Amino acid sequence: MKVGIIGSGGREHSICLSLKNSSKIDKLFCFPGNAGTKNIAENVNIDLENFENIRNFIINNKIDLIVVGPEKPLVEGLVDYLERFKIKVFGPNKFASQLEGSKIFTKQICKKFNIPTAKFGIIENEDEAKKFLKSTNFPTVIKADNLASGKGVYICNNEQEAIVAVKEIFNGKFGKAKNLLIEEFLEGEEMSFFTIHDGRTFKNFDTAQDHKRVLEGDRGKNTGGMGAYSPSRLINEDLKNKILDKIIKPTLKGLSELGTEYRGFLYTGLMIVKNEPYLIEYNVRMGDPECQTILPKLKTDLTDIFLACCEQKLSEINIEWINKKSLCVVVCSKGYPDTFKKNVEIENINNIHLNKDEFLFHAGTTKKNGKIFAVGGRVLNFISLSEDLKLARENIINNIKKLNWSKGFYRKDIGYKVID
Ligand code: AMP
Ligand code: GLY
Repeated sequence: MKVGIIGSGGREHSICLSLKNSSKIDKLFCFPGNAGTKNIAENVNIDLENFENIRNFIINNKIDLIVVGPEKPLVEGLVDYLERFKIKVFGPNKFASQLEGSKIFTKQICKKFNIPTAKFGIIENEDEAKKFLKSTNFPTVIKADNLASGKGVYICNNEQEAIVAVKEIFNGKFGKAKNLLIEEFLEGEEMSFFTIHDGRTFKNFDTAQDHKRVLEGDRGKNTGGMGAYSPSRLINEDLKNKILDKIIKPTLKGLSELGTEYRGFLYTGLMIVKNEPYLIEYNVRMGDPECQTILPKLKTDLTDIFLACCEQKLSEINIEWINKKSLCVVVCSKGYPDTFKKNVEIENINNIHLNKDEFLFHAGTTKKNGKIFAVGGRVLNFISLSEDLKLARENIINNIKKLNWSKGFYRKDIGYKVID
């Protein structure tokens, strides 16, 4: 069969590779893909906002299944649109995607079903915010309601910082803002918990811990993710059951009462405080770099899993994993997450020779005249599977040294809480 993957990051490259290993795949397309997906799929240079062109391409090329990687097209309703033309799509519909698209939508479900989350206030204007902040404990968290590529969250240490954040959000830094959230600051350790859903049932899809801050020791600005390891060091049977019973199942019930079902990956972003889970956010997709960290451990055919989800037969599938741990380090363009140069050649990529437990997924790269160029902030993802995360990290760092890319940087301490 022919499968199309929407997106261009490391997540999408890893999905392409897992699908490529399936005997059922005749051809893959990636919209628009990167230099890595180009080796295993046909990259299709198409504007992801132009649903009509995407639909025409799918129909003209007789693509059997579409997998949507990133949140933006999901929140904008690509799944609903394609389904109207009888195209098979893996991903949640537009209504359910509000779990990521609107933090207030999610908070309202939390409130109704007593889902553990940070205490919050929904604020409609600057004056109201100022009043609210008078009785707030610091640090406090201020969030834009809408999609902001991970940037619309401010951790504020005092009232002045909070007022700056409120002003920036209401002045439209993250798009038109009708309201914002002021949230209690939760002190604990973060965990990414993944599930996969067919609308009727769902299954666990492993856990990971992401390192979102740009500098070693989890300092500096937030990024899309500088590296991850899987499974999370925090997961245990008791915690897993609490996450399912107190957070995920009530959320699905909430969606069902609102008249919709959930199909696709669900990424539950949690703060774990003394073995108790608190919901920080939902994402309606796999995490990046968590996806490229987790998928190399998957034993079950990913095509079968996606098809089962589309046919509501996930209960018939047994999802199996390789019994190893996985670690991922992201190599970024110098300057990221602020400004960085584009179209910078990555000269030595051919020096990297991977063994069967090592993976290299591209993110912001493009190929021109046989050469690879960096065009994004996060550029390459190095993954290693091992019984021992320390060994995995050493293997990765050796590979990154062979790359010897002077225009890039990476964190050498990914997984430090579990390794060092
Ligand atoms: P989000 O985009 O909601 O995932 O927030 C980005 C990051 O901000 C999270 O990964 C956390 O590190 C941090 N964060 C968000 N909400 C809170 C909170 N209520 N308490 C503490 N940290 C938070
Ligand atoms: N790694 C964080 C995210 O995918 O949102």
